[in-house]
Amino acid sequence: MNELKFDRHRRLRGSANLRSMVRETSLHKEDFIYPLFVVEGENVKEEISSMPGVFHFSLDRLGEELDEVVSLGIPSIIFFGVPNEKDAVGTQAYHDHGITQEAIRFAKERHPDLVVIADTCLCQYTDHGHCGVIENGVILNDKSLDLLARTAVSQAKAGADIIAPSNMMDGFVAAIRFGLDQAGFENVPIMSYGVKYASAYYGPFREAAHSTPQFGDRKTYQMDPANRLEALREAASDIEEGADFMIVKPALSYLDIIREVRDNYDLPIVAYNVSGEYAMVKAAAINGWVDEKKMVLETLLSMKRAGADIVMTYHAKDAARWLEEK
Ligand code: PBG
Ligand code: ZN
Repeated sequence: MNELKFDRHRRLRGSANLRSMVRETSLHKEDFIYPLFVVEGENVKEEISSMPGVFHFSLDRLGEELDEVVSLGIPSIIFFGVPNEKDAVGTQAYHDHGITQEAIRFAKERHPDLVVIADTCLCQYTDHGHCGVIENGVILNDKSLDLLARTAVSQAKAGADIIAPSNMMDGFVAAIRFGLDQAGFENVPIMSYGVKYASAYYGPFREAAHSTPQFGDRKTYQMDPANRLEALREAASDIEEGADFMIVKPALSYLDIIREVRDNYDLPIVAYNVSGEYAMVKAAAINGWVDEKKMVLETLLSMKRAGADIVMTYHAKDAARWLEEK
């Protein structure tokens, strides 16, 4: 035994208190952004079938949900509007009384301190379901920028605290920053979905947001899951254009990318724990195959460990409750 030389790592794992003293990463309710789907109409609170526990809300039912989020100590929400009317150019996206604008107004009036983020894209609002303008079956980059900037400005006018553009056209941060500044919103930050992959993990979201593309796919604008260096190029150009936060999306299959962006840039990083990631865990939990609480907290913690400062997640309310118990 005297001959054997090895490290005794277990020395630091001997008790709960000792483990808590040497813990490198932690998860807090303040880390979360909770996504909300808002619809037109009255008295709607409808569960999204592939996302148990997540609902469509009409504005008259949104208040109770917002109160709950605030009472749990979650500091921020992001709105996804699902309009009744769609057209070729996504008019409802930049309408001053569109569903998203009205939801923002409602939320800021009820809870002025809640940080309200607006997802800025066109796909829920266009009849073809793409994130930009289409001519002859082609998605036109520069023509889309104009509409995105208009959308961002109308959301800021409604009171949005942060603009989060998710459409992946080139130059979208530059166009939105310019539009916001021109309209006098130079203090409204941009949380860019700059590192966004073309992913199967968005499936349940597209059901919830009615935003499935009616032809083709999003591979000409969202990134190839095989690429890592491309993420650095995307992040670099968005930061150059004025992004204040960088979202990496999805999160769970892309923890390496979160780490890569963390190691190369110094702005706050947001991990988006997307709909398909939520659906996988929920399905297994409902079947009794996994311990939901432990699995969710471990998953969210891994995103922080990878380098995220903030986690956008449909588990936020549950996680905030569970963190309070401990
Ligand atoms: C729309 C948008 C998507 C998500 C957020 N904004 C879907 C997509 O790009 O097809 C996905 C979010 C999720 O899956 O939870 N631009
Ligand atoms: Zn989109």
